[in-house]
Amino acid sequence: MRIDLITALPELVEAPLAASILGRARRANLVEINVVDLRQYSDDPHRKVDDYAFGGGAGMVLKPEPIFKCIESLHAEGPQIDDVVFLTPDAPVFNQQSANQLSMVGRLVLLAGHYKGVDNRVREHLVTRELSIGDYVLTGGELPALVVIDAVVRLIPGAIGDAASALSDSFQDDLLGAPVYTRPADFRGWKVPEVLRSGDHKAIEEWRETARVERTRALRPDLYSPDDSHSH
Ligand code: ADE
Repeated sequence: MRIDLITALPELVEAPLAASILGRARRANLVEINVVDLRQYSDDPHRKVDDYAFGGGAGMVLKPEPIFKCIESLHAEGPQIDDVVFLTPDAPVFNQQSANQLSMVGRLVLLAGHYKGVDNRVREHLVTRELSIGDYVLTGGELPALVVIDAVVRLIPGAIGDAASALSDSFQDDLLGAPVYTRPADFRGWKVPEVLRSGDHKAIEEWRETARVERTRALRPDLYSPDDSHSH
């Protein structure tokens, strides 16, 4: 899989993309992630990529020309682009299902919005998919783009150590995860539930399933639908 992340702030995203599981997946060639500096596509002597909004109002708007030039040059260099994703708070909210879908494509372009937004012609004529990461406003789309990349790349086979791990995540079946414990079995008198130390795999599975349903009902009743069969 290849991901091109277009941003006017490359320095904001480089380090997180080089660390830990994402960095390892890149080095193992499971995913190629290119950070593309939008300013390189500006014709302005000061490499400006934004301008005032027509009609007035506070805040700067990303200009269309550098973005069109940038994405046209990405189209020209390499495999077919499956989706051009714009990160913006006024869009459908990203969730595990969107991550699953995006993890199966060959090439993604992510565009991080900034300032007051982006010239709407970019959204109308260039972007194929828009995503918000939640109902709050950040200073730009860089952190949301990193969130999307992290959620997508960890689903690529081989990216995380245990292939079964991604499938047992919270949300993969609309239930939150069960609590987990590690050693010591007794920490300051707080003991790990006995069943988890019993070696009885069937009992452990049942305990986890019950815990998942209880936690989902208590913490995220919006996710819980009693008609779903949660038995595996
Ligand atoms: N840009 C600013 N806020 C955002 C959000 N919540 N999701 C995606 N992009 C954004």
